Amino acid sequence: MVLRLEKAKGIDIFMEETIALIDKLEAESRLSRAEWIALIEGRSPNAAEYLFQKARKWQQRYFGRQIYARGLIEFTNYCKNDCYYCGIRRSNRSAQRYRLTKEEILECCHTGYGLGFRTFVLQGGEDGWFSQEALEEIVHAIKSKYPDCAITLSLGERSYESYLGLFRAGADRYLLRHETADASHYRSLHPPELTLGNRKQCLYWLKEIGYQTGTGFMVGSPGQTAAHLAEDLMFLRELEPQMAGIGPFVPHHETPFAGEPGGTVELTLFLLGLLRLMLPSLLLPATTALGTIDPMGREKGILAGANVVMPNLSPTSVRKKYELYDNKICTGDEAAECWACLNRRMEKIGYELAVSRGDFPDAPARKQ
Ligand code: 5AD
Ligand code: FES
Repeated sequence: MVLRLEKAKGIDIFMEETIALIDKLEAESRLSRAEWIALIEGRSPNAAEYLFQKARKWQQRYFGRQIYARGLIEFTNYCKNDCYYCGIRRSNRSAQRYRLTKEEILECCHTGYGLGFRTFVLQGGEDGWFSQEALEEIVHAIKSKYPDCAITLSLGERSYESYLGLFRAGADRYLLRHETADASHYRSLHPPELTLGNRKQCLYWLKEIGYQTGTGFMVGSPGQTAAHLAEDLMFLRELEPQMAGIGPFVPHHETPFAGEPGGTVELTLFLLGLLRLMLPSLLLPATTALGTIDPMGREKGILAGANVVMPNLSPTSVRKKYELYDNKICTGDEAAECWACLNRRMEKIGYELAVSRGDFPDAPARKQ
């Protein structure tokens, strides 16, 4: 009996500590490495609920009940890199490779604009086939046709000059996840030619040039510990990106990590909540990967503090081929169905998709 009481008391003390850390995070917007680790390791369903309530309060203070939609155009799945987790890595010989033409990309934008999208995200593998000039021409063509839209690029690591040229051609935002902020963990997820140092350098360049910059990491990638996640959170605190994409690691059958366990919904949601409290105006997507491992994943993401969704605008003929991980959702649906489906899903939980560029609330004026 005494033992039981002691145990119960122990749990209470533990719980009080995590609640106190959540309060501290909200009040001070930062925690020490040791505090982050204690909070992540000490989390419980009750602490998570407490966190999500606060996260929703900040989400609604900045964004109301409007969820920003970004139309994702996956325009090439050729990639010169060989990340161990990624289904479109160059060593995956069974991937069917494709590239969209400029006309096909513009056609995606046309469909998307009609549906209400005001941000287009051009995402691809690191594909040298598209020259700098070709990319600038695509960006320029979209910008001229849709001057009221934001263009986001997600093309991986490039030179300062290349980023600058694309910005001058009309790109507004750039997404480049850092994947993990721990250098040795980074090495265990990537071949030696990719380094955390270069990834971070690219992110600082992007911010310096004036892009609204997004970074992020996978949750539950092989070998990840609470200490690694603490590094990720501290790196985000330092970089202060405008956006952070986090989603669970989902194994892909044709990669070296095929047999590794995937990340969990529970930990992904907890981290979304922490990010919302740390950087309250952050653009935070409820990712497709989260929707893939749980049919209600995106709704749960919104209720944990996320405020962005990124439905697919790629032609249905290529959707299945952009398979970063197994069982990716929405690969058979038309863009219109995706918009309608997500809108319905958002309305069911008291939110709605916004027809808006959905800029970062404190975004600096664009210097040309
Ligand atoms: N599981 C989850 N996310 C993945 N990504 C790549 N492969 C996987 C995977 N197996 C993510 C990476 C990348 C983004 C485009 O997709 O974080 O930055
Ligand atoms: Fe293409 Fe990692 S496999 S960037």
